[in-house]
Amino acid sequence: NGEEIKICCIGAGYVGGPTMAKIAEKCPEIVVTIVDISAARIEQWNSDVLPIYEPGLDDVVKKCRGRNLFFTEEVDKGIREATIIFVAVNTPTKKIGIGAGRAADLTYWELAARRIAAVADTPKIVVEKSTVPIKTAEAISSVLHAAGRTSFSVLSNPEFLAEGTAMDDLEHPDRVLIGGPLTEAGATAIERLSQVYAHWVPQERIIKTNVWSSELSKLVANSFLAQRVSSINAVSAICEASGADVDEVARAVGMDTRIGHKFLKASVGFGGSCFQKDILNLVYLCQSMGLSEVAEYFHWVVKMNDLQKERFVSRIIHGLFNTVTGKRIALLGFAFKKDTGDTRESAAIEVCQRLMQERAEIAIYDPKVEHEQIWYDLSEVTGLEQSQIEKYVKIEGSVQAAAKDAHALVVTTEWDEFKTVDYRKVYQQMSKPAFLFDGRNILDREELHSIGFVTYSIGKPLDTKLNTV
Ligand code: NAI
Repeated sequence: NGEEIKICCIGAGYVGGPTMAKIAEKCPEIVVTIVDISAARIEQWNSDVLPIYEPGLDDVVKKCRGRNLFFTEEVDKGIREATIIFVAVNTPTKKIGIGAGRAADLTYWELAARRIAAVADTPKIVVEKSTVPIKTAEAISSVLHAAGRTSFSVLSNPEFLAEGTAMDDLEHPDRVLIGGPLTEAGATAIERLSQVYAHWVPQERIIKTNVWSSELSKLVANSFLAQRVSSINAVSAICEASGADVDEVARAVGMDTRIGHKFLKASVGFGGSCFQKDILNLVYLCQSMGLSEVAEYFHWVVKMNDLQKERFVSRIIHGLFNTVTGKRIALLGFAFKKDTGDTRESAAIEVCQRLMQERAEIAIYDPKVEHEQIWYDLSEVTGLEQSQIEKYVKIEGSVQAAAKDAHALVVTTEWDEFKTVDYRKVYQQMSKPAFLFDGRNILDREELHSIGFVTYSIGKPLDTKLNTV
């Protein structure tokens, strides 16, 4: 029907912000309001310095903010005025209680749903944007129905964007997935939501399914992506032991069109807020359904990732003559991948923690991550106060500064700017022998080797210059 669409999104984070900015850009006649319980976050969204860094996001926000895109703390008002309510709150792994360490913590989700139940006085379409376990939509429906909101529809519309390329991913999504109840009202709600995406997404890319298929598809997609990373990382271990080169293997294997090239890059390990959390969530679901072998199968994707990080750290320690105590190590990159300031589950955190345990001195440089975030992450992982961490860790403003007097460079994030550094200059000011451990395989190891570095890359033949690594 032609009823006016008004959108409210609960949760102004990495997903809520960019997705709603894109909808506002593409649908100028739809008013999009993003609400959040964090006043600080809302204030940042309304300022010149947005709370998240994402290429292309600033332009879209500047273009739409105040026109048909609004950021506010007035959650209740936002809910009341909307016809479609997206819920894009965080769903981290549970830290305590049943399922701790695996299951999704749905506290934020339930609070948001209860808020909708409490204040929405006209029928709404409630859209799950967050990644949630299967049957969450059903649980949310129950909360709404118990509050007398029987004409509300709950849809699943998982988000597939990747941080660092979010705006492009949203502009040209491989698909938009909408799951809804198999009822007439469900079909109408799906149609209304697909009208929004139809402003810029071709019809054939909008997939409509039942709710559970949609919820499960998101967990499966992330599990498959992470599984490819863990598979190629497992191969990298074989390569190092055998003298094969993981990039050559990935190229040869990836040319098989059934396999494909993407996500076959060996590294220190995947990070980010989603992969590990979503796999563990799937593992927990499998366990609770009595599918213990299936659970174990997927669990190994995460275990392999942990092993890869540990293997990398061991290589560093072993390479530096079995001790890093008191040695300065330059850690290049703290974000979980390039082009984002996000550090959630970043491999750098674990590498840093392990090197701290070995009493190394660590000099960190990242072009985008805020210093406070680095201190926060290291406090969380070590349980130490910032003042204690500062005994081991310094944050520097450039590769050059971090590398000064360092025994080793350790690349933990694949920032493009690391490729264009003058490594001759860097080498000159380092302790000798100078080591390079490239956890992202982005640097030209032949060139670095010829400068004088002892180099180590993931899944590559070992540098025999010193016979240490
Ligand atoms: P985030 O932590 O950046 O943002 C969540 C926001 O929700 C925070 O600003 C928080 O203050 C707010 N919030 C929490 N409870 C609230 C409530 N009751 N009312 C109002 N606001 C509330 O999280 P992010 O990364 O945006 O993730 C959101 C969801 O999207 C998660 O389920 C995640 O798995 C999923 N997702 C994340 C992707 C990513 O790349 N970050 C990609 C695809 C899905």
